[in-house]
Amino acid sequence: MVQKATETFFKSESRYRMLVENSCDIIFSLDFEGRFVYVSPAWKNILGHELSEVVGHNFREFVDPEDIPRCEDAFMAVIRSNAMQEMTYRVQHADGSWRRHTTRVNRHRDENGVKTIFGTTHDVTERFLFEELISRTEKMAMISGMAAGMAHEINNPLGAILQHAQNIERRVSADIPANVQAAAEVGVNLDLVRAYMQKRGILDFISHIRSAGMKASEIITNMLQFSRRSDAGAEYVNLSTFLDKVLELAGSDYDMKKKYGFRRIELQRLYAADLPPILLSVSGMEQVLLNILSNAAQALADGEPSQQPRIIVRTRLAKGMALIDIEDNGPGIDEQTRRRIFEPFFTTKKIGVGTGLGLSVAYEIVTKGHRGMIAVRSKPGKGSCFTIKLPLQETA
Ligand SMILES: Nc1ncnc2c1ncn2[C@@H]1O[C@H](COP(=O)(O)OP(=O)(O)OP(=O)(O)O)[C@@H](O)[C@H]1O
Ligand SMILES: [Mg+2]
Repeated sequence: MVQKATETFFKSESRYRMLVENSCDIIFSLDFEGRFVYVSPAWKNILGHELSEVVGHNFREFVDPEDIPRCEDAFMAVIRSNAMQEMTYRVQHADGSWRRHTTRVNRHRDENGVKTIFGTTHDVTERFLFEELISRTEKMAMISGMAAGMAHEINNPLGAILQHAQNIERRVSADIPANVQAAAEVGVNLDLVRAYMQKRGILDFISHIRSAGMKASEIITNMLQFSRRSDAGAEYVNLSTFLDKVLELAGSDYDMKKKYGFRRIELQRLYAADLPPILLSVSGMEQVLLNILSNAAQALADGEPSQQPRIIVRTRLAKGMALIDIEDNGPGIDEQTRRRIFEPFFTTKKIGVGTGLGLSVAYEIVTKGHRGMIAVRSKPGKGSCFTIKLPLQETA
């Protein structure tokens, strides 16, 4: 009788063991300090560590420091109330990359009275990235329609403002005979009219109207570009030569030089030698790279003054795509900014410094104009790296 019960027990034990060990999700138990007592083999498949590198270690060693407080709250809640808790957090793979996991935990007391926390973890990284992509694509489609509408509406009155400001300047010029004649007809001296306007700063006001109008018109051009698929002609280029040219352009740009000290930045060029010619729209891709470089230079100008500012421009081949990395050692980007970084008009800069269009235009040019991808990796305090992926044999 006893033997039968024992056999039944071991059979059911081995059945449960088999279920746990073959589960695609990670099944684990923790002590109340947060140390792993058991992890199922799925951990190695999903996160790459040997199980011996996990058992006995604290869960905090694997979780992103920003997410630890949330996990600790769930942990404490389950200890206090014995009610199942669920949380989603980032956890580090053995290769250093980050995965997103959703875990359900509960409390358990075994027959010897030992209390543990047990849980199941599902890897939701792909689903998370997919949802992020869908919501970004939908948001972009909506905003791009709005941007196009607004840009067209603003374009006409803006054109009138610019043109009339220019007319005023021309109509007080003594170089145009019709002006001199009209002044004589009404009995005024045009030189004196100009002198008065000069003295009261009226000519300066008009010139300010013109330069502010030009700035607004640049923004409008960007907005239109954002909402339009790039139809600029594409050509095959040698990526290394092309990047050298863009870096030279960046070095000679007035703002980059004067405001953000581009010359003081150490540039490292790590170009892959085996890249075939890449088909791209030269002016479009120049704009993308200049936007990214200008952001990096601005970020470095705001960064820690004691460290040597550096930008690495790297090219490489991966999975049938040519990759361009632009990496800076500036202050980095926090998670909230990162999520919205490609949205039009999203900026953390002061009014007048940034319009928030740079990266949204870059995004459109890369994804629609080149059927490529653009992404950013960053951690606050650890610099940022923008990666552009371009298909190798596709029409741009
Ligand atoms: N290399 C970087 N380091 C830190 N933050 C960055 C970096 N690149 C972009 N950002 C952040 O992303 C935001 C959006 O960048 P984006 O280029 O779209 O707009 P902007 O630079 O603010 O304005 P604009 O490009 O229109 O002048 C920036 O305001 C900044 O907060
Ligand atoms: Mg910018």
